[in-house]
Amino acid sequence: MNIELIRRDFPILETKVNEHQVVYFDNAATTQRPLPVIQAVTDYLMHGNGNPHRGAHVFAVHASEVYDTSKNVVKNFIGARSAKEIIYTRNTSESLNLVARSYGETHLKKGDKILITIGEHHSNLVPWQRAAEKTGAVLEYIYVDKETGHFIEEDLKKIDDPQVKIFAFAQVSNVLGVKFDAKALIERAHAHGAVVVLDGAQSTPHMKINVQDLDCDFFAFSGHKLCSVGGIGVLYGKEEILSEMEPFLLGGDMIDTVEEQKTVYADLPAKFEAGTQYVEGAVGLVAAIQYISSIGFDSIRQQEKILVTHALEKLKELPFIHIVGSKNPDEKEGLISFTVEDVHPHDVAQILSEDGICIRTGHHCAEPLHRYLGINATCRASFYFYNTVDEVDYFIERLKHVRQVMGYTAS
Ligand code: ALA
Repeated sequence: MNIELIRRDFPILETKVNEHQVVYFDNAATTQRPLPVIQAVTDYLMHGNGNPHRGAHVFAVHASEVYDTSKNVVKNFIGARSAKEIIYTRNTSESLNLVARSYGETHLKKGDKILITIGEHHSNLVPWQRAAEKTGAVLEYIYVDKETGHFIEEDLKKIDDPQVKIFAFAQVSNVLGVKFDAKALIERAHAHGAVVVLDGAQSTPHMKINVQDLDCDFFAFSGHKLCSVGGIGVLYGKEEILSEMEPFLLGGDMIDTVEEQKTVYADLPAKFEAGTQYVEGAVGLVAAIQYISSIGFDSIRQQEKILVTHALEKLKELPFIHIVGSKNPDEKEGLISFTVEDVHPHDVAQILSEDGICIRTGHHCAEPLHRYLGINATCRASFYFYNTVDEVDYFIERLKHVRQVMGYTAS
C-alpha cells in the first residue's frame, strides 16, 4: 500500500492549521472522504439526479437503477443472503432505533431481559432503555474488566439466561478499541433463542464482515465511518425476521396499496424506507465500498496495526499518559483512548488543535462506560489507513507540549 498515493485521494488532509499540516486522528467519529466518493456523488447530482421508484422519465429511472443496484453492492460487502435484507437508514443510531422500536417494543414483554454491555455507545443503549421502559422488560449489562476491557468471564453467564430475549453489543468498542468474539457470543445467545443485534459501527470500517458467518440477526453500521458521505447508514436483518416486523416510519414508497382506512405495506426492503430515498448517499456508500475494497482489508489492517503499535509504544514511554483498557496493540482496533495527568481532555484537544491535530475528547457517547471506569472524560486518537507513523510522532511530540503549556513537566 502506497500511503502517499492514497493520501492524494484525500485533499482535506492537505489542510493547514497555524501552518501545521492537519493530522486527522478522529476517524472513529467520522472518516474523511476520498476523491472517488466526492466525484461519484457530484457526477450523480450533475448528471443523474431523480426521485427513484416514482417516475418514468430518464432521471427517475436512472435514480431507481442506481439505488436498487447499490443494495447488491452492500449485500456483497457484508455477506448478506439477499438485497432485501439491506435497509438504508441515516446512520447506526437510526438502524438500532429501528430494531428497538419495530422488533424490541413489539416482541418484549414484562420480565423479559434485554442484555447489553457497559461498553455500548448511546446508540446501542438508549433505545434499549426505552424498549425496557415501554414493555416492562429488564435491561441488564455485561461488565468489562477495567484493566483489559475484556468482558468479565462470570458476567458472560448472563447470556445463557433464557429470559434474555435480545442481546445487543458492539463488535468493537469505540472507547476501549477491543474487538469481541462476536461469533462465539452470538452462538451462545442463540442456544436459547435470543435475538442478537450486532453494532458494527466501529468494526465495519476495519475488517471484513460476513453477517451469514457471524449469524447475527441484525447488523448496523454507518457509511460516514468508512469514507462515504454522511447521512447514510445500513441495517441488515435476517429476511424472515424483517418480514414479520412492523415498519418503523410510514409514508411514500413503503406501501403496496393504500385505501382510506388501511394500507398494505410493501415487501422488503421498501417497507422500512419511507419517503424519498437518499440516492446520493447510496452512490457515496457504493463508491466508498469500492474504494475500500480496492485497498483491501488486509492492507488496511496492516497499516492500522503499524500505527497502533507505534503509538502505544511511544505513549507508554510518557509517564503522564494513562491508557484506557488494554495496552496490547493486538487488542486495539485502530484507536487508543487515554488521559493526560493533570490536564482535562478538553484542554488536551484544544491545545493539540492549535497544532493541527484532531482527536476526540469527552465521553465518546459512552457515558455509562466512563462512569463505570471512574473517569469523566478521555482523549481518543483513532487512526485509518491514510494516517502515517510521522503523524503519530508529531502527535506524541505535541502531547509533551500540552503538558508544558499547562505548566507541568513532560517527562
Ligand atoms: N460514536 C461515534 C464516536 O465514537 C460518534 O465518536
